[in-house]
Amino acid sequence: MRISAAIFEKTFTPFNVADVEIDSPGPGEVLVRIVATGVCHTDAIARDGDMPFPPPGVLGHEGAGVVAALGPGVSGLAEGDKVVIGWPWCGSCRNCLEGQPRYCLQLGPLVLAGGRGDGSTALRRLDGSPLHSHFFGQSSFATYSLCAASSLVPVAPDAPIEILGPLACGIGTGAGAVLNALRPHVGSSVVVYGAGAVGLSAVMAARLTGATTIIAVDRLPARLSLARELGATETIDVSAAGADPVGAVQEICGGPADFSLECTGVISVVRQAVDSVGMRGTCALIGGAPAGASFSLDHMSTLWGKRVIGTLGGEGRSISLIGSLIALHRQGRFPYDKLITSFPLSSVNEALEASHAGDVVKPVLRMTE
Ligand SMILES: NC(=O)c1ccc[n+]([C@@H]2O[C@H](COP(=O)([O-])OP(=O)(O)OC[C@H]3O[C@@H](n4cnc5c(N)ncnc54)[C@H](O)[C@@H]3O)[C@@H](O)[C@H]2O)c1
Ligand SMILES: [Zn+2]
Ligand SMILES: [Zn+2]
Repeated sequence: MRISAAIFEKTFTPFNVADVEIDSPGPGEVLVRIVATGVCHTDAIARDGDMPFPPPGVLGHEGAGVVAALGPGVSGLAEGDKVVIGWPWCGSCRNCLEGQPRYCLQLGPLVLAGGRGDGSTALRRLDGSPLHSHFFGQSSFATYSLCAASSLVPVAPDAPIEILGPLACGIGTGAGAVLNALRPHVGSSVVVYGAGAVGLSAVMAARLTGATTIIAVDRLPARLSLARELGATETIDVSAAGADPVGAVQEICGGPADFSLECTGVISVVRQAVDSVGMRGTCALIGGAPAGASFSLDHMSTLWGKRVIGTLGGEGRSISLIGSLIALHRQGRFPYDKLITSFPLSSVNEALEASHAGDVVKPVLRMTE
């Protein structure tokens, strides 16, 4: 079938929106008509070669839409159902079986190999040459996506499908890191480095807990005002040369904080986030730094019962995290729609640029039929 897609031709090059061909769904697969797909910082990281997804191909991993066709053997879904495309998982490895599909032992190939497990791709140019597909199991910078049925999260017919895609990555990652991984106790302090889509989602989630001090750190004053609106009790502006966010955190908390989250993807911030928590504190690392980046920590202070944990995708199962965030949004308790600005698919390059410049927090590409 002929569809439109934003082709990632080569690294550091703008996407090329063109018509391409997509396969019909095979066994266990579903063809989804994308209504809208979020743009995540991770798409920019892949475009710039810091994630090994091979061009030419199609990126995009926050898709949501409507089931257009079912492959053989798919049950529990019907044409016309609204779905969010969650992260792929194998379902049979140790971590999947233990209820941690975000840490599926097949995650690397499932999200980055550029096709199905058997090496085939789902996308071709009109001249028949192959394009890599299945970025995060979906390649949703396109009007249609072919995915494994197991990665789909069905949602209610009246769910606002045009804003649900980002719950599967950026928004769910920040919120899930707080609600699934850190679980702040009553009266605790939480410091969020980076008030982008991920960090602001962490701030909104912290507001849903008993944490009484919620600190957002960023270099963009507009994002810090938004953080205050969404639940930050304090903000730290690091735009000035020589800013000392760790000292500022200590001053606000009267000592180190209980929890911190690194949501910038800037490698030097990792040390600040780890140094912001003290004895028995926990720092969650979320940001995706350039490939091969490393960091060093003060050895002695990490012995003090301090935990430094990496988190992917907000942990937990897509179906429970996404379903809960939809309910919280409906109740007005998780107003993540305030982060979203919509663009047409043809403006994918402008959408990435607006996010990079800090003008837009969460760009979402809306498909027109
Ligand atoms: N672990 C995961 O599963 C996962 C999932 C989604 C995204 N990510 C990663 O999370 C990171 C954040 O994603 P996003 O979409 O929110 O990106 P974003 O670009 O919208 O936000 C990053 C924020 O960090 C701020 N920042 C930059 N330098 C800073 C500094 N020195 N101190 C404080 N703040 C600083 C920026 O101003 C910006 O507001 C990215 O690296 C992305 O790749 C990880
Ligand atoms: Zn698995
Ligand atoms: Zn993402």
